[in-house]
Amino acid sequence: MNNRFPADFLWGGAISANQSEGNWRADNKGPSVADIMRTNERISPSLAEVTARLQDKHDERYPKRNGIDFYHTYEQDLQLLAQTGCKVFRTSIAWSRIFPRGDEKEPNQAGLDFYYKLFSSCKKLGLKIMVTLSHYEMPIYLVEHYGGWKNRQLIDFYVNYCQTVVKEYADLVDFWLPFNEIDSVFRHPFISAGLVKEDQSMANLCQAMHYQFVASAKITSYIHQITKAQVGCMITGIQIYPATSKPEDNFLIEQVRQQMYLAGQVQIQGNYPKRILKMMTKKFDLDITAADLHLLKQGTGDFLAFSYYTSIMKGVENSGAKAEGNTISGQRNPYLASSKWGWQIDPVGLRTLCLDLADRFDVPLFIVENGLGAEDQVTQDHQIHDEYRMQYLQKHIEQLSLSLNEDGVDIMGYLIWGMIDIVSSSTAQMSKRYGLIYVDYDDENHGSGRRLKKDSFYWYQNLMKEN
Ligand code: BG6
Repeated sequence: MNNRFPADFLWGGAISANQSEGNWRADNKGPSVADIMRTNERISPSLAEVTARLQDKHDERYPKRNGIDFYHTYEQDLQLLAQTGCKVFRTSIAWSRIFPRGDEKEPNQAGLDFYYKLFSSCKKLGLKIMVTLSHYEMPIYLVEHYGGWKNRQLIDFYVNYCQTVVKEYADLVDFWLPFNEIDSVFRHPFISAGLVKEDQSMANLCQAMHYQFVASAKITSYIHQITKAQVGCMITGIQIYPATSKPEDNFLIEQVRQQMYLAGQVQIQGNYPKRILKMMTKKFDLDITAADLHLLKQGTGDFLAFSYYTSIMKGVENSGAKAEGNTISGQRNPYLASSKWGWQIDPVGLRTLCLDLADRFDVPLFIVENGLGAEDQVTQDHQIHDEYRMQYLQKHIEQLSLSLNEDGVDIMGYLIWGMIDIVSSSTAQMSKRYGLIYVDYDDENHGSGRRLKKDSFYWYQNLMKEN
């Protein structure tokens, strides 16, 4: 590969707590929204369904309750990760390990101890740490008893949790992300904001989004006050094409883009576009105070982080073959190949998105998730020949190099999603694997849990040596 990256480029791997740790009730952990998700469903439960699922003791039906047992295996797993030669490890803190219900005043010491040990292990291995404070795993008690993020009280609960962990790990963490893909409140309101089926009106979605923006700004200011760490605003990197050159199709995709840009505008530039603020206050009569708007101005992020997996095509007629994407679905683009899950593979889309976001927000970019979800076969001699994954990653990295060197975009780093196989977020399947390291569990949590290096592991190790 003829790629050029600066010596301080931040290569690494990312996972989340709810998809990896398992042990959903260990050491006083409270249940989270992730713990009630079954395999192959897009979850949007009613309040009654939430309660029923919490009482369901069949853990094997809920793969995120088991994860890959990272809660116990983190030391060995981090050692494998460090063997690749990468520099950054991103994970999240499970809010409900620290505050099991979410509204307590005092934290759960066992939860704090776990992350102290985890982050210390990273440091011993020379890894920089990026922490997501909320990655689709809010305590479910806040859903049942407060109605999720449509309730202003959530701001205080979240800030109390975040201040506790930021203070605790101030000397260990290098980068903080207040929310994972904050814009996704609009696309999956339950796992993103704890809004149950009966609460998903547009007004509630906008209110929840606003409270998350305020909470994020508060904690961003706090991090800036007490640490030297950088804070990123993280959005879902969606590359979207109109299905035809019909003006209506173009208008439709512009609307989706505006939704994605909104989080960047508020969290990087510190204000709502006037048009949107007017709609939110006049049309929906939302609770947005002058003090909130002041906080948004104070607590802006240092860089724009985003995930990127796929592009999607949309049109008003919504005809033609269907395609899936990261929290969004649409139509099949005839120029692109797809993964088994219908996610279209579009490396050039990544370069285009970098160009778009760079000029729009004028801060450094950080690709904090990219990878291919695929089914892997283990040969009799315990090998995994995942040529498809190497090709996917290589092509995206090539486009990144062009973005840096030809387009002059300021890109801080690139994290592979998964690195080690974990449970899929959207489908809760273990068989949708992203890792360079294979984990022997199936969708019902059967298996030895043994870790095996895939071919892509060695390929990435070489890439790190070259760079
Ligand atoms: C991102 C999420 O949206 O997509 C991750 O931040 C998730 O948590 C990733 O795992 C890939 O999606 P999936 O559904 O294939 O796991």
